[in-house]
Parts: sequence; structure tokens; C-alpha cells
Amino acid sequence: MTTEQNQVKLGLDGILAFESSIATIDGNIPELIIRGYDIKEIASSLSFEEMTYLLLYSTLPTGDVLNDFSKELASLRNIPSSVLQVLSTTPKEAHPMAVLRTAVSLIGASDPSADNLTNDDNLRKAINLTAKMPTIVAAQSRIQSGKDPVSPNPALGHSENYLYMLTGEKPDPVDLKAFETTLVLYAEHETNASTFACRVVVGTLSDFYSSVVAGIGAIKGPLHGGAIDDAMRMFMDIGSPDKAKPYVETALSNKQKLSGFGHRVYRAGDPRAAELKDLAREMSTSHGDSQWYEIAQEAEQAMKNSKNIIPNVDYYAAIVLYQLGFQLNMMTNVVASTRIAGWSAHILEQYNNNRLIRPRALYTGERGKKHKSQNL
Ligand SMILES: CC(C)(COP(=O)(O)OP(=O)(O)OC[C@H]1O[C@@H](n2cnc3c(N)ncnc32)[C@H](O)[C@@H]1OP(=O)(O)O)[C@@H](O)C(=O)NCCC(=O)NCCS
Repeated sequence: MTTEQNQVKLGLDGILAFESSIATIDGNIPELIIRGYDIKEIASSLSFEEMTYLLLYSTLPTGDVLNDFSKELASLRNIPSSVLQVLSTTPKEAHPMAVLRTAVSLIGASDPSADNLTNDDNLRKAINLTAKMPTIVAAQSRIQSGKDPVSPNPALGHSENYLYMLTGEKPDPVDLKAFETTLVLYAEHETNASTFACRVVVGTLSDFYSSVVAGIGAIKGPLHGGAIDDAMRMFMDIGSPDKAKPYVETALSNKQKLSGFGHRVYRAGDPRAAELKDLAREMSTSHGDSQWYEIAQEAEQAMKNSKNIIPNVDYYAAIVLYQLGFQLNMMTNVVASTRIAGWSAHILEQYNNNRLIRPRALYTGERGKKHKSQNL
């Protein structure tokens, strides 16, 4: 290799691995553009169904097209009894993301067309999993609280039905709006680690489900989607707004990473975090419980003053999901259940313009070692 090729980009920082027309981030402005729309423009004005359609078909649906797509999603929400059985028989100690990963894998293993790689069939799988993952997550959540799963209600929209399956009751309008906006904000985020994992699997011409399972495995990690519940745990550890500054300063002096802070691409703020901060404040007011928001604000300020590190999407989303009643260990599952829309768009795009993704490593091991056979 030449000297230039020898430069390792640890974490593939700043590397352009493929062309994409799905989303782009400018971390300096900062902005997130999805299919041509600024996330700030669409976050609170699109339904989850519209966002998913936009991601999958590159255009916003209107009129009958939107109605038909919404009906199609609603008709696919029921999960097979074999999946429900897995959810209720997996050991209680299992990580909920491991259970979700297993459930999706089982759906894939049960699909006779799993290895059909045509665009139409992959689109069918994308819509099917987008419809079913919330049913799995809501059922997981209820089973872990000792309750029976609630069957989906096809008369309700995607987000309303999701909350209904969680609580057994129709949500109030403020909660519903906050949840729908959160799902839209999380649906897609360019070449993040889990999306890249999905694309790497497609790159080998493996199947749609294997790709999604890889995405679930990647987003589970605490540096990625797994940061959301850790952020909420941090607010709980802090305990009260006056303790936020010393907590942050002590953690930083101990070289600890604080969940919900920092981002590989955004340096001047995560636009999704700004939207979620507003939502967290609104939820705190409507639920009459502002302590978490106040703690988060104080910790954000302390982090800004000490290291100028920004809150990312998970920081205020943790408070929104907590106020909506999600258990801490289910929060990453919720993130995965909406990111399926973005993953699917990337999976389809990768299949349609595929090249095996296969980087190199700079070898730092030894050479020239000799092996003496024991059998001589
Ligand atoms: C997201 C994350 C993995 C990005 O990592 P990265 O791009 O490799 O950034 P780095 O780890 O190189 O961080 C750059 C600097 O900021 C610091 N930093 C970044 N995130 C930090 C955090 N959450 N807490 C404390 N310091 C942090 C690093 O220590 C480093 O400081 P240094 O230059 O003094 O050594 C990282 O910010 C992180 O671990 N955040 C917490 C987990 C999280 O919230 N993930 C969700 C992301 S949406």
C-alpha cells in the first residue's frame, strides 16, 4: 500500500462509503435533510405513515395513496403466535433488544420468500416489519410487567395504536403528538452505525432480514441507540437539578463518557435534540412533572461550560419516552421500531446499487513466524 493508503481513519471518521439520496447531515450548520426536507420542517408536521412512505418511495403521499398505505400498515400489525410465544418464554433476564432481534429473526426464518432479493419483495418485507415491530415492542413491554399483550386496533393510526398496545387505552392528544414526533425524528439518520451495518450485510447479497437483525444488533450498543435509557438513568442518578453541575464535573474529571452527550457528526448541536427538548418541556408541563427536564437542562449547561459537548437525540428523547410510560429497558426497542423505516430505505438503495463493502486494515501484527508441527 502507498503511504496515503496507510492512513487509518479510525471509526471510518469522515469516509464517504457510497452515494445516497436518502439523507444528509451538515454537522456545522447544523442540519439534517431527509429526501430533500429539513427535519425541522417535517418533524412535527408529518405522521409516521407519511415519513415511512417518504423514506421508502422518495415522495410524500397524498389523498388515497396515503390512505391505502396507512391501511396496508394497519393490516400487517398482528404478529404470529410463534413470535408471541418467543416473547413470553425467553428468560426474564434477557436484554429486550436481544429478544427483539430474535423475534425479527424468527419472522425472517418463517418467510418462504426470505431470499427473494427483488425490490418488490424487499419493499413488502420493509412494510411488514415496520408494521410488526411496534406490536412486538408493546407486547414485550406488557409481558415484562406481567400483563397480557394488547392486540393492535386497525382503526387507529400507527402511533396511536402503538401507545394503545402499550397501555390498553387510547392516548391523550398531547402524548400522541409527542410520540408521533419522536418516531418521525428517529426514523432516519443517514450513515449511522446501525444503518451502515445493514448496508454491509446487503453488500454481500444476504437477505433483508439478516440485514435488519444486524441493524438491531448495532443500535443496541450504548454508544448508539442504547444511550437513551442510560441517559434517563443518569438523570435519575443525579436526582435533583442542584446536583447536576457537580455530577457532570466529577464524571468529566474521572474521564467518564456521559450518555446522551456528544456526536460523531454534529458539533454545533443535534437538530433532533432541539425538537425533543421542546417536546420534553411540553410533556413535563402536561404531566406536571418537571424535575427530569430541569435536571437535564442543568446538566446540559454544565457540559457546555466544561467541555462544550452537545446533547444528542437520546438526551431529551429519554424524558419524552419516560413521561409516556415506557420502561427504561424498552426505550432502545422503541428507537429500533421506528428506525426500521430508515434502515429499509437504505437496504433497498444498497440492493439497487450494490458493491461489496470491504475495507482494509493496517496490519500491526508480526510476520515471519515459523510453525513446528507437533507430529514430527
Ligand atoms: C457518540 C459518541 C460515541 C461519538 O464518539 P466520537 O465521535 O468517537 O467522539 P470522541 O469519543 O472522539 O469524542 C471527542 C471528545 O469529546 C469527548 N466526549 C464525546 N462524547 C462525550 C460524552 N458523552 N461524555 C464525555 N465526553 C465526551 C471525548 O472524551 C473526547 O474528548 P477529548 O478530545 O478530550 O479526548 C460519543 O460522543 C459518546 O460516547 N457519547 C455517549 C453515548 C451516546 O450518547 N450515544 C448516542 C449517540 S446519538
